[in-house]
Amino acid sequence: MDGFPAEPPGRPPLWRPDFTLIEKPELDALTGAEWRLIEAQRKAYMQGRQAELVLGLFEAARGDASFGYALSMYAHGLQAATMAMQSGADEEFVVVALLHDIGFTMAGPSHGEFAAALLRPYISERNRWVLEMHQVFQTHHAHDHPHFDSHERERFDGHPFFADAADFVARFDQNAIDPHYPTLPIEAFAPMVRRLFAKPPGRRFQGPVITP
Ligand SMILES: [Fe+2]
Ligand SMILES: [Fe+2]
Repeated sequence: MDGFPAEPPGRPPLWRPDFTLIEKPELDALTGAEWRLIEAQRKAYMQGRQAELVLGLFEAARGDASFGYALSMYAHGLQAATMAMQSGADEEFVVVALLHDIGFTMAGPSHGEFAAALLRPYISERNRWVLEMHQVFQTHHAHDHPHFDSHERERFDGHPFFADAADFVARFDQNAIDPHYPTLPIEAFAPMVRRLFAKPPGRRFQGPVITP
C-alpha cells in the first residue's frame, strides 16, 4: 500500500529467558515435540499475562469522559463491584460485577456477551448467564426509554436464573451511577481478578485449545 512499505516484523523477545523460540514459519511444520513445548510455555505465559491484560483493558477506560451519566463507565464498574462486595457477595460475583461492562464501549449492543465470553471458563453458569443477559434485564429499569421494551425480560420468565439476573441489575447495575456513593479503587479488586483467572478453566466450557 502506498506509503506503508511491508517489512518483516522480526522476532519478539521471549517472555521468559528459559523459553525456546520455535523457528517455524507455519503451524503445518510443527512436530509433536514442538507442540508440547509450545503448550507448556503457553500455559505459563497465560498464567502470567491473562489477568494483567484483563486489568489493563479495564484500566484503559479510566480517563474516559462521560457520554451523559454522572459517572464514567470505569467508575460504574468499580461502583457495581463495591456494592456487590458490601452486600456480602462472594469473590466471583464481585469480579462479575466489576467486569460486567468491560466491553461496553467496544462491543456496544453485544457487551453482555463480551463479558460472558471473557469470564465463561472461570465462573458458574449462573453468573455467565447473568452477564450475557444483563442488557436485556436492564431495560426493565428504563421505563421511559424511547426504544427499549421494559417488558423484554419476560421472554425469560421461568428461566432458572431469571431472579439472579433481575437481582443483579436492580441492586448492582441500574443504581451504580451515583457520583456521591463511596466507591473502592481498582486496587481493592485487582487481587480478586488475579485469583479468578488463576483458577483452572472449567472443563465444561473448555473448547478446543487454539494456539495461533
Ligand atoms: Fe451493561
Ligand atoms: Fe452496567
